[in-house]
Amino acid sequence: MYLEDCTVISHEKINDRDYILTLQTEKIAQEAKAGQFVQLKVADIIDPVLRRPISVHTVDREKGHLKLYYQVLGKGTEILKRTKAGDTLNILGPLGNGFDLTLKDSKALLVGGGLGQAPLLLLAEELGKRNNEVFLALGTRDELSLKNVICFDNVCKEVQVATEDGSVGFKGYITNNLPAIIESFKPEIIYACGPNIMMSKIKEIAAKYNIKCQVSLETRMACGIGVCLGCTVVPAEEGKPYLKACVDGPVFWAEEVVLDDWI
Ligand SMILES: Cc1cc2nc3c(=O)[nH]c(=O)nc-3n(C[C@H](O)[C@H](O)[C@H](O)COP(=O)(O)OP(=O)(O)OC[C@H]3O[C@@H](n4cnc5c(N)ncnc54)[C@H](O)[C@@H]3O)c2cc1C
Ligand code: FES
Repeated sequence: MYLEDCTVISHEKINDRDYILTLQTEKIAQEAKAGQFVQLKVADIIDPVLRRPISVHTVDREKGHLKLYYQVLGKGTEILKRTKAGDTLNILGPLGNGFDLTLKDSKALLVGGGLGQAPLLLLAEELGKRNNEVFLALGTRDELSLKNVICFDNVCKEVQVATEDGSVGFKGYITNNLPAIIESFKPEIIYACGPNIMMSKIKEIAAKYNIKCQVSLETRMACGIGVCLGCTVVPAEEGKPYLKACVDGPVFWAEEVVLDDWI
């Protein structure tokens, strides 16, 4: 884990709410694993005092570039939005446990919901390097959040999208399509990141088809380093101590955690 002042290389507006930040950070870019996150200090002023957790979208290890894909939601990301190329941002990371990358010469189904696509790009790239076929199933509210999906085309065998308003791809939730995708693609593992209700459904589908499944939880966090107990996750096994999303996760095997509790 490093605490670095990073220079902003570029700050790209994807649409009215989504942005991609590229930062120069030799150490974090070298070590970051798919599924890990960084804690960004969005302002030098007191408010907001807490850092904001953002997933590693992808890295260019040769250039030392770290890419973050974020959506403007509240105060912190509204301040972050004003960052320009050449500015400096203070970052703590890489943090947490990333996705399991032991899969080789096989097939993986990646399921993203909305901003859940953020950590899936590096995952798709790493799985591809291990000679796996990758299928991305992505569900979003509308076409806005699909503007960045083109970057998955080079690393995925197939990309299928569903929008709630039907503006692009299938109309409805992407989880409705999963049984058909699983039956034709036959993945060995499912990796998912998105709203809790979606991951609960994916856990159920994975169990029905007896497929291993990892979920990345975007539980609200404060410290991000295991100190404040602000990110507890209920373990599936009764009697086990609560888990901390920031250090035990954010990626967990689906059967290890209770997801229905959050709905
Ligand atoms: C491990 C992890 C990885 C994340 N990766 C990304 C990412 O790659 N890109 C990205 O855009 N966001 C990501 N998030 C969510 C991001 O941290 C929050 O959107 C951000 O902190 C909001 O800060 P804010 O000050 O703008 O909003 P706030 O003023 O703090 O909150 C504004 C609104 O956003 C909601 N909100 C805040 N945090 C979360 C959260 N964790 N989950 C759901 N709703 C939330 C609040 O309930 C509130 O309604 C991640 C969160 C975690 C825990
Ligand atoms: S965010 Fe503080 S313990 Fe996880």
